[in-house]
Amino acid sequence: MVDPAGMRYGMHAVLYVSANAAEDLWWCLVMKLETLAVPKGYRFSRRSFVRIASAASAVGLVHITTEVDLAYGQRRIARDIPADAVLINANENPLGPCAEACSAMDNLGAKGGRYEFGLTQELVKTFAEIEGLKPEYVRAYAGSSEPLHYAVLAFTSPEKSLVMGDPAYEAPMRAASYSKARVFKVPLAKNYAHDVKAMVGADPNAGLLYICNPNNPTGTTTTREDIEYALVNKPKGSTLLIDEAYIHFSDAKPVLDLAAADKEVVVLRTFSKIYGMAGLRCGFAIARPDLLARLEPYGWNSMPVTAVVAGTASLKHKGLVLERKKINADIRNDLFSWLAADKYSFVPSESNCFMVDVKRPGKQFIEAMEAKKVYIGRVWPAWPTHVRVTVGTGPEMEVFKKAFKEAMETPALAVQGPPKGAESWRTDRPYASLS
Ligand SMILES: Cc1ncc(COP(=O)(O)O)c(C=O)c1O
Repeated sequence: MVDPAGMRYGMHAVLYVSANAAEDLWWCLVMKLETLAVPKGYRFSRRSFVRIASAASAVGLVHITTEVDLAYGQRRIARDIPADAVLINANENPLGPCAEACSAMDNLGAKGGRYEFGLTQELVKTFAEIEGLKPEYVRAYAGSSEPLHYAVLAFTSPEKSLVMGDPAYEAPMRAASYSKARVFKVPLAKNYAHDVKAMVGADPNAGLLYICNPNNPTGTTTTREDIEYALVNKPKGSTLLIDEAYIHFSDAKPVLDLAAADKEVVVLRTFSKIYGMAGLRCGFAIARPDLLARLEPYGWNSMPVTAVVAGTASLKHKGLVLERKKINADIRNDLFSWLAADKYSFVPSESNCFMVDVKRPGKQFIEAMEAKKVYIGRVWPAWPTHVRVTVGTGPEMEVFKKAFKEAMETPALAVQGPPKGAESWRTDRPYASLS
């Protein structure tokens, strides 16, 4: 049965109820919509809601995998990390929220005691105006991890697979373990872009094709032409999920206009990266209202008001994105010159992270760096001798350089058996063993 207390806090409750409670849930949602002043364009029919709610409840409880889960997977307890450690492991932005975002949060005062749905509407309106979108094509979430998971749950199933790049952000694959969808991992092309031709041909029964642009972990981009190719040639009935978490760091062409043009595309944006708001939790799903409506049954909650006002203030700060893009690019390019001068092998990235080949099992290298209090990112099974590094501040990257050189100059330890993280990967296995 529906837990009425749970319902007060949002549609997450849908995941805890049995299928025959779907009707009860419908009435709760109707009441909720009245309270929420939902933007125009969100249409729910009672019949479709009952169908989707039944599907959602069949899925059961879902763990939302986040970058922080993945980055700290081996060390969940933050107190283990020394206070003076360099943290370049989770693709966070060391600059944090901009000054305008901080003042907006300071000025919230007693408003923080209320749900303040109007502030979320202002955030959505601000973004929609800047991007030339209708507000009903934009839905705010507490970070983009939620809509990423909901899209996988909504568009994949045991019959409808997930197709993604390799290496790529692992969260969609984890979400697919809940919808019991097959996962097809398509190696990146030689230039490290998504191999869209191979992706569209991977499975005629694909439900969702996930393209992260720029890609996490490589920071490499996929061209607009390739994304359009995927859109035109994708299997019938499938949807594209374009994750633009890192788009602002790069010159890659955004595809919000494809969502505005009513294509089968869901675009994800987050404030966690260039806006430095990972801890505040704010993001968007952008798509045709009927596609957004397919995400709704999996989660419907009010937004953290601190994130909302900080997000709005950040969007209104006109020079912010370019300013931060330049800061990141300058530090990254300096680092790449240094790596190249010493003949270290790395993948040129346009983002705030990159992959470097440490010529030994990545885990071994990560541990050596941790001993020097430099926390770098993880290893992907497809590339077991590469590690991901996030671009930190200038001084942080100087500490990184010294530690990196020392660690590289230390002979690799002999490995018994296959290196960890290099286990064979079957593309139809719905859950990867992550490093
Ligand atoms: C590619 C990608 N998508 C989505 C996310 C989710 O970010 P958040 O939930 O913080 O918005 C991340 C986080 O690192 C990411 O790397």
